Amino acid sequence: MIQLHNVYMAYQRDASALNGITLKVPKGDFVFLTGASGAGKSTLLKLLYGAITPNRGQVLVDGQNITKLPLAQIPYLRRKIGVVFQDFKLLPNRTVFDNVAITLEVLGWSKPDISRRAYFILKQMGLEHKINSTPLRLSGGEQQRVALARALVNEPRILLADEPTGNLDDENKEQILNIFKEANFRGTTVLVASHDRRLIESCPRRVVVLESGQIREDASVPK
Ligand SMILES: Nc1ncnc2c1ncn2[C@@H]1O[C@H](COP(=O)(O)OP(=O)(O)O)[C@@H](O)[C@H]1O
Ligand SMILES: [Mg+2]
Repeated sequence: MIQLHNVYMAYQRDASALNGITLKVPKGDFVFLTGASGAGKSTLLKLLYGAITPNRGQVLVDGQNITKLPLAQIPYLRRKIGVVFQDFKLLPNRTVFDNVAITLEVLGWSKPDISRRAYFILKQMGLEHKINSTPLRLSGGEQQRVALARALVNEPRILLADEPTGNLDDENKEQILNIFKEANFRGTTVLVASHDRRLIESCPRRVVVLESGQIREDASVPK
């Protein structure tokens, strides 16, 4: 479960990015976070994986207040949370396989287990023929699926995705959506920040609308 209580966040003084956010996301939920550019979507996701801390308020992940987390505890938080960044953040000089395996290496998995699990998820993403390629040789949709494979390979409890379908065509968007649905079906709580109205309309789930750092609307099914 994710909970935010009265969260304020300003990168600079007099310019708040989040302005009193209170939000509950139960375990197993699938939520779209939407709103115009600058509304605070990325900031909210960054708070949840501990990249930034709020000026005020509480952010709880599984009951733990992560705003008070000592730096050394951040890796434990990250184990629970898979993140897909807007710009993928893949390692350009490593293979697709390595980019996915790294999540499990950090967690201390054995080499054979890493191999088995990384192949499994890459196959699931339809990337088994690309495992030895480097990211720059892949299409945008393929890069996004590598990023998703890396985020999901350890079956995290929570998946956060920031504008995951940014530059993708409809076919690739649908593929990415299906991966989210599948992860959610298997119990992962999914939070997707997107300003893509059509994408959200194509997938009836809870929609939280941000506007100037506040929640304007919170609806189970989009209009
Ligand atoms: N690193 C940063 N430094 C200063 N201001 C920032 C930074 N990141 C975001 N902002 C500001 O915070 C507000 C919310 O941004 P953001 O969370 O990125 O919105 P969204 O993802 O909805 O487009 C915007 O006014 C933006 O300019
Ligand atoms: Mg953003």
